[in-house]
Amino acid sequence: MPNMSHLGSGEHVLLTGANGFVASHILAILLERGYAVTATVRSQNKADDIIKTHPSWKGKINFAIVSDFTSQGPFNALFEDVKVPFTYIIHTASPLNFNVKDIQKEMIEPAVMGTTQILESAHHHGGTSLKRFVLLGSAVSVLNSFEDMSREGRPYTEEDWNPVTAKQAIERQDTVLGYNVSKTQAEDAAWKFMKTNTPAFDLAVINPDIITGPMIHPISGPGSINETNHFAIASFIDGTNPKVEDVRFPFYHFVDVRDVARSHVDALTNPAAGGRRILLISGLITPQLVVNIIRKHFPALREKVPEGKPEQVLPDGVHPTGWDMRVSLDVLSKGTDEGQWKYIDLEKSVRDAVQSMVDHNVV
Ligand SMILES: NC(=O)c1ccc[n+]([C@@H]2O[C@H](COP(=O)([O-])OP(=O)(O)OC[C@H]3O[C@@H](n4cnc5c(N)ncnc54)[C@H](OP(=O)(O)O)[C@@H]3O)[C@@H](O)[C@H]2O)c1
Repeated sequence: MPNMSHLGSGEHVLLTGANGFVASHILAILLERGYAVTATVRSQNKADDIIKTHPSWKGKINFAIVSDFTSQGPFNALFEDVKVPFTYIIHTASPLNFNVKDIQKEMIEPAVMGTTQILESAHHHGGTSLKRFVLLGSAVSVLNSFEDMSREGRPYTEEDWNPVTAKQAIERQDTVLGYNVSKTQAEDAAWKFMKTNTPAFDLAVINPDIITGPMIHPISGPGSINETNHFAIASFIDGTNPKVEDVRFPFYHFVDVRDVARSHVDALTNPAAGGRRILLISGLITPQLVVNIIRKHFPALREKVPEGKPEQVLPDGVHPTGWDMRVSLDVLSKGTDEGQWKYIDLEKSVRDAVQSMVDHNVV
């Protein structure tokens, strides 16, 4: 562990998976707010890529390499060596790649073990200065994978849990279900850990639906567009979805990555966030809404993007199940200086996402 005197003078935050789409935005806000940051990545190359992408961050981040969550005590050395104890942990690293062969080994195990192993290390080595653990969960651990979300149903709340099981995902070889299981089991394991071990710190879990928005993580070609910006947006530009009506993912709700990042950093110090699941959903997203926004703001891309039926933002008869956001909105508002939480809307999220793709020359 290097000398940390060069880092921000504020409280020390451990951030996992720092090169990811969401974590890059969290890192940007942490640095902006003056926190000292130790950031984990899976290899030195990935740490180097972060600094190449953001040269002004050079010397401001203490990188730690944690290559394999499923190894024995992957985080112990990090906690044992740290010179300035952590005050907060933000855990974001988890598999989000639907192109896997072994759902159990490549999705579920790393998601669950990554979460329980860092909680173990934090409990045993975190000391009394560690106040809060913020887990980047997902709306997929709240919604019901087997419910037809294209029909109006009872809105989901923070009380709901996805009943999906590993057996169901593996039997069907369905990697979307596998991802849902990985997030549900990881979050469940975190709450169980807290109950069984009663550590000195508390837990807040943030459960966003599909995340879109500008990319500031290391980009080295079209393949580094993150999974959700790809299937929700870029897939309409690069020919993957030549027809709006044929889209495989029935996506209905989104949140912008900047709101996700802000909610995590706010949650470090928001007294109302402790012990809570916090739903994070800005509003409706549909394939038709996405293509309408791209075609409106990027005339140069119009030829590549299907037109669909611009007036019909949802297929006939589709009234998606909603979310009751009242409790979470109240918690989020208490974490802001203004006492009010405001979401970025879909138009801005998609426009800024596509602009970042154009800037990186990846669409
Ligand atoms: N994007 C969404 O719509 C969405 C919605 C709700 C929740 N989330 C959650 O947000 C978090 C970040 O997602 P993202 O969209 O930012 O995806 P991302 O860009 O793919 O970032 C995922 C991060 O997790 C790391 N990771 C993946 N598998 C790992 C493993 N087996 N061991 C160690 N690290 C691993 C990745 O490291 P490498 O780069 O080395 O692979 C990367 O740093 C995840 O927990 C995801 O479940 C995302």
